[in-house]
Amino acid sequence: MKSLHTISQLQILINRKQILKDPLSFHRENFEKYGDSFRIRLGRKHPVIITRNPVFIKHVLQKQHKKYQKSPIQTVDLAKYIGYGILTSNGEHWRTHRRMVQPAFHKEKLKNLMGTIRVAIQFELQRIAPNKTHDVFPLMRDLAFQVVAKSLFSSADIRTQMEQLQSITESNQQMLVKEMRQPYLKWWFYLNGSIKKHLNLTKKAQILLHEIIEERRNSEQENDDLLDMLLQARYEDGSPMPQKQLIDEVMILFTAGHETTSNALSFMLLLLAKHPDIQERIHQELNKINVSVDDIMQYVLQLQYTKQCIEETMRLYPPGFIIDRISIAHDEFNGKKISKNTLLLLSVYEVHKHPDFWESPEKFNPNRFDAKNKKDYSDQYFPFGAGPRMCVGNNFAMFEMILTIAEIVKKYRITTPLEKIEINPLITLKPKEVPLTFTER
Ligand code: HEM
Repeated sequence: MKSLHTISQLQILINRKQILKDPLSFHRENFEKYGDSFRIRLGRKHPVIITRNPVFIKHVLQKQHKKYQKSPIQTVDLAKYIGYGILTSNGEHWRTHRRMVQPAFHKEKLKNLMGTIRVAIQFELQRIAPNKTHDVFPLMRDLAFQVVAKSLFSSADIRTQMEQLQSITESNQQMLVKEMRQPYLKWWFYLNGSIKKHLNLTKKAQILLHEIIEERRNSEQENDDLLDMLLQARYEDGSPMPQKQLIDEVMILFTAGHETTSNALSFMLLLLAKHPDIQERIHQELNKINVSVDDIMQYVLQLQYTKQCIEETMRLYPPGFIIDRISIAHDEFNGKKISKNTLLLLSVYEVHKHPDFWESPEKFNPNRFDAKNKKDYSDQYFPFGAGPRMCVGNNFAMFEMILTIAEIVKKYRITTPLEKIEINPLITLKPKEVPLTFTER
């Protein structure tokens, strides 16, 4: 049986500076040289396969998903800071809790949350200072965090606690990036106390969430928010989630739900600033809408062109730019052997720009996603992943992003002094900077 081209450990060592600085160009170069999948050797432990083959990606995430699991990158490295909720667990533990969390994100349930989400967005957007160029990334980050916070704890007055939680979440993310980028220094991070410091921060966040949840348990009030939904979820034997699990699931929703959304929104605002004609089309769509803004769900569903622009943004800049899995059984794909314990890095970023599947792949062209074109991209477009572990918050995120863009474009014209949008691939794909100017219409 033929095997994939293998890049040796020596070659990796020689190129390590380039790989650390710009991992995505390293992937691109090798895809161009060796085809849509290649292997790298990093010592004896885990062989690594990197792929941009969409059929292979579906094979791993969907068709043969039982032979693959989340890798220790998420279930160990990330989990130590955010706990063992549905993002960071595998097997029966994951299946049981996914079944309990998922109903909270059904469209019918989200309908009840839309008012809360819109108020949170409008509140944060008051911080826009017109006619001044400023970095909008912190604003989008706070907006996405507050949207999750308000959707979970709708009526609680917990701004200070949420600020603490946000600062802890973001500080722990930065530590994790350090650990992943410099795995050879992990021993030093343990020795110099940085990992301990961050684990203590995690404990602090857990105590904070414990107190908020306890207060809710003791109140008689019905809130119809995400926390109520999680409190009402039951295991098959009828028992509720233990407090520790509940805290982990809440932490996961904050972590999975805020950075991804703020990155996508930031990229989208940059793209709109660089494409005033597309911005105007969104504005025209908003003017044409014939639904009362109070029926928020219908309002959002009518903003089809805005939705297309978000879809196209996440094609060019998917926040979840690489999905990782580890094989837990021997497998093969297209006659190529995949041994047990192989780490698979599925490059969503490269599939979304693959010249065989996209016409003018580098062009921002929201018309690709126009339903009138009747093109089905589900085999080559994975911004929310695929298969049973697909993002549980995908509808939530889409509604939130459509509402945010609508609120901004209704009021402002957006411009940027930036020549070129530059990316920063960390745990998620971020823009390097987001300098924008908002001028009132
Ligand atoms: C633009 C916004 C978002 C993007 C691009 C995104 C992307 C993704 C991707 C690619 C995965 C799959 C990861 C994998 O298979 O390894 C995922 C999983 C997940 N996402 Fe999202 N996400 C977004 C927003 C949200 C929001 C708003 C929430 C919740 C409030 C959320 C909660 C989750 C959870 C809990 C999982 C784990 C699901 C599981 O493993 O069963 N995400 N997301």
